[in-house]
Amino acid sequence: MIKIAPSILASDFSRLGEEVKNVEEGGADYIHVDVMDGHFVPNITIGPPIVKAIRPVTDLPLDVHLMIENPDAYIEDFAKAGADILTVHAETCKHLHRTISLIRDHGVKPGVVLNPATPVEMIKHVIEDVDMVLLMTVNPGFGGQSFIDSVIPKIKQTAELVKATGKEIDIEVDGGVNDQTARICIDAGANVLVAGSAIYNQQDRKKAIESLRNSSQR
Ligand code: DX5
Ligand code: ZN
Repeated sequence: MIKIAPSILASDFSRLGEEVKNVEEGGADYIHVDVMDGHFVPNITIGPPIVKAIRPVTDLPLDVHLMIENPDAYIEDFAKAGADILTVHAETCKHLHRTISLIRDHGVKPGVVLNPATPVEMIKHVIEDVDMVLLMTVNPGFGGQSFIDSVIPKIKQTAELVKATGKEIDIEVDGGVNDQTARICIDAGANVLVAGSAIYNQQDRKKAIESLRNSSQR
């Protein structure tokens, strides 16, 4: 079963509540929230107050993607704000296992993210401890970038790693996901697709979500 996680980064922030509701009604599975700090990535977006504001608007899990230095310092704030899944970049964690444990201690599902240039070996020893692996298919920082094809072998490698655990661990892809690239990702083993522009730039979000979900059947 393929899950769709619309990224609100591409939504109209002046109508954020409606934009969240709209994709929920369109059949989204998660709401993807991109948190950027202007240090780890060259852009600043949103923080815990926005997560708190959208929490009562939707019943969907909030999939909060932390593109920030020193994520440990903010885990409690995001947990209290209502995050259901917190993903941290392996590149930002000096003690990755500790950070993952901290997220779980706060009652939130932990996930780990890898940039396109970071090898899958980085997460080999923590795979059993996470609920999600997020593979960046663009360099993080901005919506609307082009998909990086060289990540495909990493999706396959991650799928093998996950299979060997015998656990249900989501494999999510993020960046440049559209009907064409979604299909390649699903075929390689991804089961959660993040999409910003491919959903929010369309008038009919329901149709866009269905189209992404069914992309591998065409
Ligand atoms: C990029 C973000 C993505 C982004 C995706 O740093 O993590 O979630 O919003 O946007 P699209 O789907 O437009 O590439
Ligand atoms: Zn993201």
